[in-house]
Amino acid sequence: MALPPGPTGSASINTVRFSRRPLEMLLGWQKRYGNVFTTRFLVFGTGVYVAEPEAIRELFTGDQSDLHAGEANAPLAGVLGDHSVLVLDGPEHLRQRKLLLPPFQGARLSAMRPLIREVAEAEVGTWQPGSELRIRDRMRQVTFDVICRAVFGVYEPERVERLRTAMLNLIDTQSFFLIPERLRDSKSRFTPGGWLNRRREVADRLLYAEIARRREQPDLEQRDDVLSLLLRARDEQGRPMSDVELRDELFTMLAAGHETTSTGLAFAVDLLLHNPAALDRLRDELEAGEDAYLDAVVTETLRIRPVIDATERTLKAPRTVAGWDLPEGIRVYPGIALVHHRADLYPEPDRFRPERFLEEGARSYTWLPFGGGIRRCIGAGLAQAEMAEVLRTIVSGVELEAVRPEPDPVVLRGITLVPRHGAQVRVRARRPAAQPEPALAGSNSGAR
Ligand code: HEM
Repeated sequence: MALPPGPTGSASINTVRFSRRPLEMLLGWQKRYGNVFTTRFLVFGTGVYVAEPEAIRELFTGDQSDLHAGEANAPLAGVLGDHSVLVLDGPEHLRQRKLLLPPFQGARLSAMRPLIREVAEAEVGTWQPGSELRIRDRMRQVTFDVICRAVFGVYEPERVERLRTAMLNLIDTQSFFLIPERLRDSKSRFTPGGWLNRRREVADRLLYAEIARRREQPDLEQRDDVLSLLLRARDEQGRPMSDVELRDELFTMLAAGHETTSTGLAFAVDLLLHNPAALDRLRDELEAGEDAYLDAVVTETLRIRPVIDATERTLKAPRTVAGWDLPEGIRVYPGIALVHHRADLYPEPDRFRPERFLEEGARSYTWLPFGGGIRRCIGAGLAQAEMAEVLRTIVSGVELEAVRPEPDPVVLRGITLVPRHGAQVRVRARRPAAQPEPALAGSNSGAR
C-alpha cells in the first residue's frame, strides 16, 4: 500500500530536527506535503500525520476496537503501572475511564477553583519586585500542589513535600524509556532498572500509605477530593477499585496533568508579555469582573502553543483515513498543532489573538489540545480551570516583564512542546490588592 508522501530524510535526521524545532518542522512539512503526510521517527517508527478535521472526527468517534492508543504508551507502564488508563486499550480502558471521569465534571470541578486560587495566591505572594523567575518552574510547583490537594486530598505541607520528592524523582526520569525492557525488572543496585525500581518503591510506599489512611478516615463519605471519590466509586458490576488500580491512576493523573498544565501556563504568560495589548485588555476585563476574555486567552494559548503536538492511534486493521488506504500496524497522528495552524480555519494563525474565540467558541475537531473521543483528556476541565485561575492571580497580583525580547522558541521535551527557556520574567512591581466596592449610600449595610 502506498503511504502519503512526506519528508524523505532518515528517521534519525527527522528525529533530531523535530526535537529541536518541532513546530517549525511540522508546519514546514505541512506546507510542502499538505494536510496528510508520512514521517519516520526513531522509537516511534513510521506514522501518518492527519490535519483534516473531518478525518479526525472519523478517527475519534464510532467503533474504536481497531484503533489503539494505549499500546504506544506501553513503556510508561514501568512507572505508571499496568492499570494506568494511559496504557490500556479496549474494555479495561473504558472501565478505568468511566471510574475516573465523574470527579472532573460539573459541580465537583467548580469546587476546585477556590482551592486553585489559594495555591496560586500563596505562590505569587512570594514573588518580590526585582527578582527573576522561570515561570515554568514556578508553575510546576503550583500544579503539583493543586494535584496533591484536589486529586490526592493531601494538604499537610510535610506530606506534600514527601510526595513531591518521591513522585517527581520517578516521573522526571525520562531515561526510563531508554532502558531495554529485559533490564527494567532488575533488582540489582547497579543497573539503571534496579536504580529506577528503588525510586518506584519509595514512591509506592508513600502512595499506598495515603490510600490506606484515606480508607480509614471517618469523614471519607463527605470528602470531595478525587481519591476519596474514587474510593467510593463502583464500576458497572458494582466492583470498587483495588489499591493497585488506585495507585496507578493517581500516578497517571500526576504524570499526565502536572507538567502539561505548567507548560501551558508558561506559554500563556510568555505570550501575554509579548502581546501587551492582549495583556492590557485582560487586566481591564478582570477589573471589570468579566471572565470571557480570560477564557479566550486560555483557549488561544492552547491553540497556538498546544502542549501535545498530536495524539496517536495505532491501526489494528487496514483503514481508509482522509482518502488514503492505510495498512494494519501503522500509527496515525491526528495533528493537533497542524489543525490549529491552518489559515483557512484560523486567519493569521501565527498571531496570538484571543479575540478570535470571543465571537465563536472553540469547535470540537478544529480545536483539539486535549485530543478527542474515548481518549479525550480526563483532566481537560481541571487544566483549563487551573490555567484561568492561576493567570487571574498573576495578572491581578504582579506586573511582570519578559527577560527576552522575543517569545521563547518551542522545543520538544519528552513528548511535550515546551518554551526553551521556561519563560523567564522579571517582577516589576506588586499590584495593590483590589479594594472592595464602597457600600452604596442608603444600602442597609450602613444601618448595622
Ligand atoms: C494543559 C494541560 C493538559 C493537556 C494539554 C493535556 C493533553 C492531553 C492529550 C492530548 C491527551 C490524549 C488524548 C487523546 O489521545 O485523544 C490526554 C490524555 C489524558 N490526560 Fe491530559 N492534558 C492536560 C492536563 C491533564 C490533567 C490536569 C490531567 C489529570 C488530572 C490529565 C489526565 C489525562 C489522562 C488520565 C489522559 C488519558 C485519557 C485516556 O486515555 O482515556 N491531563 N491529555
